[in-house]
Amino acid sequence: MSRLHRFLPPPGPARWFLLPVYALVLLVVLYAVGRPVHVWLGNFYSGPRAPYLQMPATTAMTLRWQTAQAETGVVRYGLRPDRLDRQVREAGPRESHRMRLTGLQPDTRYYYAVGNPRGVRYAGAGYTFRTLAASSRVPVRFAVLGDPGDPTPLQKKARNVLTAWLARHARPDRPRLDLLLTTGDNAYRSGTNSQFQRGFFEPYAELLRQVPVIPAYGNHDARRHVFFKLFDFPAHGESGGVPSGSEHYFALDDGPLHLVVLDSTSEPLRPGHPMLDWLRRDLAANTHPWTVAVMHHPPYTHGSHDSDRRRDSHGRMFEIREHLLPILEAGGVDLVLAGHSHMYERSHLLDCHYGTSARLDRKASLRLPQTEGPLMTYRKRPGPHGGTIYAVVGASAKADRGPLDHPVMAVSEARVGVLVVDIAGDTLTGRYLRADGRVGDRFRLIRDPGAAPFDNGCQ
Ligand SMILES: [Fe+2]
Repeated sequence: MSRLHRFLPPPGPARWFLLPVYALVLLVVLYAVGRPVHVWLGNFYSGPRAPYLQMPATTAMTLRWQTAQAETGVVRYGLRPDRLDRQVREAGPRESHRMRLTGLQPDTRYYYAVGNPRGVRYAGAGYTFRTLAASSRVPVRFAVLGDPGDPTPLQKKARNVLTAWLARHARPDRPRLDLLLTTGDNAYRSGTNSQFQRGFFEPYAELLRQVPVIPAYGNHDARRHVFFKLFDFPAHGESGGVPSGSEHYFALDDGPLHLVVLDSTSEPLRPGHPMLDWLRRDLAANTHPWTVAVMHHPPYTHGSHDSDRRRDSHGRMFEIREHLLPILEAGGVDLVLAGHSHMYERSHLLDCHYGTSARLDRKASLRLPQTEGPLMTYRKRPGPHGGTIYAVVGASAKADRGPLDHPVMAVSEARVGVLVVDIAGDTLTGRYLRADGRVGDRFRLIRDPGAAPFDNGCQ
């Protein structure tokens, strides 16, 4: 007790004044010490994690999974579920497993089983994947999860609506889904390893074991240091496109689709930065008919974030409009997907609008659909500045409030859901599947060399 007294304010009336100050200092010290410890502990999750597919390619696929105890991973795979006649085995025991299957055929379905030398842990009809297609004649279907990593009841509802819709709209001789994209903020609140397990890997396990997932990097993912340990990204052109040399931004080709994934969270977005230089080179080399870009921060939103407020998100949405969009639009990008704002907002066909919403020149930059009603159809001229559709898909687990009145948007709604995109021939079709089972938006984009060009001086 006498030792404790040495740390207390001296007796007298001043003690009662100084005690709260001492308590405050103590709290600050505890927080300063406790937070790094909490952050460090958040990097660890030592339980099992079911298989998930990474770094798809035309001739290869990576399988990742985790076991509670160290063991030597064994993967058997083959062209038929009852004939897994090829096998790869890890060199030694470990908890975190990563196996790259190589020598595969393009656009081919494989079946696999995961285990150890003593037996099988994961096997069955759902353990299957398809390699990327080299021919642009095959159709591609991908789903987009927006800010999904919050294990809410609505997250599960939206996921169930997606899987039920995919079952009802199965494509003959094609997998139900080719790719699973996210727009970032994959694990709330802070992207810890255990939050990734609860909010992402467990709820989406059935999809993740048969569809390669390509997650965008969100600001909540950046609060910890596990994102780039959990996922493998094709930095060296493994999935197509120009090699970027960075896991933060890269390309992927699947059939008619050229996908560019960008890091709007931690990469500088100013001219001369390597990501922008790479993007320019990659889009210039692209010969695929359809190009889609994904990043976390949206260039246009009036949702739970406001792209007209320069102080919102450290000005990133301004920088995207001013420095990134001119490159994307000159590179002929058809669809830009983002999240961050917990809404669904989808624009009309847009070109060359890089300012705030008040400065929108509707006549020069906006093209309305040719057909109104439940399906909005747009015709776009292929090539530079033919027009781009911008979608904010940020509500796959929860929807927040916002004014939802951005003038470039055709649809704005604060409803939980998932976007599904089909690309076939000269048509791209998007559907926003709400957690309530209704389709919130249907739009169609048709490549048409005869479509009228924009008259805004950007071409
Ligand atoms: Fe975010």
